[in-house]
Amino acid sequence: MRSIVITGASRGLGLASAAHFYHKGWKVIAAMRSVESGMERLRSVTGSNGSSDKHDPRLIGVKLDLADSESIANAAQLILQQVGAPDVIVHNAGLAAAGSAEETPMAAWQQLFATNLFGPVELTKALLPAMREKGQGRIVVISSQGGIRGMPGISTYSASKGALERWAESMSHEIAPFGLGVTILVTGTFKTEILTEQTPDYGDHHGPYAKVYEGIHTTGREFVDKNASPPEKFAQALAAAVEDDAPIRRRTVGPDAAGLYFMARLLPGNLVHKIIAKAMKLPRRNALKDPSSIGRV
Ligand SMILES: NC(=O)c1ccc[n+]([C@@H]2O[C@H](COP(=O)([O-])OP(=O)(O)OC[C@H]3O[C@@H](n4cnc5c(N)ncnc54)[C@H](OP(=O)(O)O)[C@@H]3O)[C@@H](O)[C@H]2O)c1
Repeated sequence: MRSIVITGASRGLGLASAAHFYHKGWKVIAAMRSVESGMERLRSVTGSNGSSDKHDPRLIGVKLDLADSESIANAAQLILQQVGAPDVIVHNAGLAAAGSAEETPMAAWQQLFATNLFGPVELTKALLPAMREKGQGRIVVISSQGGIRGMPGISTYSASKGALERWAESMSHEIAPFGLGVTILVTGTFKTEILTEQTPDYGDHHGPYAKVYEGIHTTGREFVDKNASPPEKFAQALAAAVEDDAPIRRRTVGPDAAGLYFMARLLPGNLVHKIIAKAMKLPRRNALKDPSSIGRV
């Protein structure tokens, strides 16, 4: 029986994925901040032994706060005790934040990088010795369109996902000789709470960037309403991704992620910049230099 560690399994894409792998017969280590409520949700979604039996050996909840080193060390120890070296780790847990680079506070930068980058790095470091010894395993990182290209209004998030991808690429060279591989799953738009008000917005919507936010928010809302896919579709793509066996593989899930990925590969950078600005209805170049022109952008 293969084992998989999925972080952020309390809800959203992580919850759907944990349920999917459980139904496929895997031993699932569901890592999450709030184990009690998260596991109750997961047990009810999977139908694992009815919600009263908390000892299904194929569905194990592990407490993990990626912003807390002690929690990471304890989680890693528990994972090793429960399954030894896992066959797959999925770095799914993640946070987003909205707001321009100028208006997003440093505390938000630190929180996002702690959760989206430093936490996954630390958990991986703790599990790698056992995985190397086993000589087989895969590390999957969940990236985003913001990891392909810096997107406006989410620079913190884009920067953290870009960094996550570069870390994963570097590491893939180092661990391939030990029989381990890496997959980067570039994820499009899926209906989860990350797309709601749960994600903090640090932008001042009456300040200097108001027109920039207006374009992003209008086009973003329309896009999400029309195109966000159900998390179960993501889980299916993840199930294919864990079967990769190249030292490194980059995949996309969702038509928007595929579209941006190929556009960014095929077109010159300045053209991609223009296409994104137009699609997001951003004010044209120089439009906000003169405060009196704001009504005409
Ligand atoms: N949905 C999309 O459209 C989309 C698009 C591109 C990429 N992604 C990526 O997909 C992944 C999953 O996102 P989602 O859409 O499922 O979002 P979500 O519904 O907001 O779920 C985020 C998960 O991350 C966990 N988390 C947050 N901070 C944590 C921390 N410090 N330690 C441990 N866990 C933490 C949350 O746990 P709590 O329940 O404890 O808060 C939750 O389980 C993220 O990496 C996200 O960047 C999503």
